Amino acid sequence: AAAAAATAADAAAPASTPPPPGYTELTEGRAKVVFPTGQVFYNPAQVVNRDLSVLTLRHTVAALRAERGAPAETYSVLEGLAASGLRSLRYHLEVPGLSTVTANDVDAAAVATITRNVAHNGVSPAAVTPSCADAVALMASHRAADRRFGAVDLDPYGSAAFLLDAAVTAVADGGLLAVTCTDLGVLCGNQVDAGYARYGASPMRGAFAHEMAVRLVVFATAAAAARHGRSVTLLLGAKIDFYVRIFVRLRDSKAGAKERLTTSALVHVCSGCHTPVTQPLGARKAPNKLTLVSAPAWGVSPPPPAGTCGLCGGRVAVGGPIYTPPLCDPTVVGELRTALGADATDLASADRLEALLALLQAEAAVATPLFLHLATMCKVLRCNAPPAAAVRAAVRAHGFGVALSHTDPQAVKTDAPPALVWEILVLWVARCKGDAVLAAARSAVAAADAAVGGRRDGVTAAPVAAASTATAPADATAAGGGDAAAAAAPA
Ligand SMILES: C[S@@+](CC[C@H](N)C(=O)[O-])C[C@H]1O[C@@H](n2cnc3c(N)ncnc32)[C@H](O)[C@@H]1O
Ligand SMILES: [Zn+2]
Repeated sequence: AAAAAATAADAAAPASTPPPPGYTELTEGRAKVVFPTGQVFYNPAQVVNRDLSVLTLRHTVAALRAERGAPAETYSVLEGLAASGLRSLRYHLEVPGLSTVTANDVDAAAVATITRNVAHNGVSPAAVTPSCADAVALMASHRAADRRFGAVDLDPYGSAAFLLDAAVTAVADGGLLAVTCTDLGVLCGNQVDAGYARYGASPMRGAFAHEMAVRLVVFATAAAAARHGRSVTLLLGAKIDFYVRIFVRLRDSKAGAKERLTTSALVHVCSGCHTPVTQPLGARKAPNKLTLVSAPAWGVSPPPPAGTCGLCGGRVAVGGPIYTPPLCDPTVVGELRTALGADATDLASADRLEALLALLQAEAAVATPLFLHLATMCKVLRCNAPPAAAVRAAVRAHGFGVALSHTDPQAVKTDAPPALVWEILVLWVARCKGDAVLAAARSAVAAADAAVGGRRDGVTAAPVAAASTATAPADATAAGGGDAAAAAAPA
């Protein structure tokens, strides 16, 4: 594939011209763009975004051609909001097997820039075609099956939400949709009303907000696809720098569209201990059957009791729904990593991409959405943070999976019940306080354990309450004398 990439790029080898007088040239990947000297429109922070997109598009084109046995050069790409055309030029020059790239922008001045940059790279407008249109109108006009694109890339300023409905109909069966959203403030719960208006789901604040932001964008994309009888397969979704970026493959599948019920969940977050708990909207009763979880007979029920935290008795806020499965396909990400090591050494941000992809892949090993956050938990318990590795090891020792999050090094992402992680911290606090308190905490934990038969699959009310009784309140510096004690209700 390395050779193929090189050959395709060399075949297209641009005979680029020197920049016109008064213009400065800038190179990224194999593309060169010119801009009036002194005028800054280039955002170097987006190099990672474009490199990751080149890498993922190469992978998807190869996958699609293998699946379809399609002849070479049948894969068309639309960049809906192309600005300078840099990304479109990079796709043409760095991704083998593309037929055409349409570099569209609604702004006539941007399209003049795109046209200039296409010529500057010695690329034919038939290969990278400048287009001036509203992206929504353009995508809607490519809705017919024979007019769809192999890939659509949306990289707006702010939210891409208004583009999603048209985009999901403009991508061919099995094709790729890549979406950037830079409205992280809204996606992280700073304006819940705006977030709900855009994404059809309520963002929330919290240590997990960045991960939730990625999940909200996938949720909204999958919702748009489902309205058109299509399903999405997430290749990867990540929060990078100041934006969310997701890559999904779209398929014509009414069954897949309905399957969304099993991958969507409400999020309950306690205002006292900040523990997030998800409540799936649906589950499989039997293969090929979707059922609502609200029927207790089907084995999954809402977290009890409504409105109160099962751990500390705090008030629970609700948000979402979010998309719940892991944020990447670990096999695809493994292949992307292999490509990075072997074929994609041309990508300037390869080291950073490798670090990101490694984290995403490890994160995907634990299927639980969102996470507990060590620093936040320690703040609740008013204790110094134990080493994160020790907490993770303790969780693992109980037989549960635990991973980091690409969004936060303090994350404890685990399939263990939150109660267990709290108990581990409570024991840590107690150990710091001395043997008598430790014994008290241990017996509280043992009692909680006995009540649920050792391995806890539900949430117990014991741990945070245990923290407060084990350590409060005589010593003002004691852990547990603060928020947790205030929030704790009798078990
Ligand atoms: C962030 S820039 C795109 C950067 C580009 N994707 C890249 O990687 O270099 C956003 C662009 O979207 C364009 N735009 C805004 N609304 C649009 C719409 N409705 N249709 C098409 N383009 C639009 C703006 O003119 C602007 O050039
Ligand atoms: Zn709580």
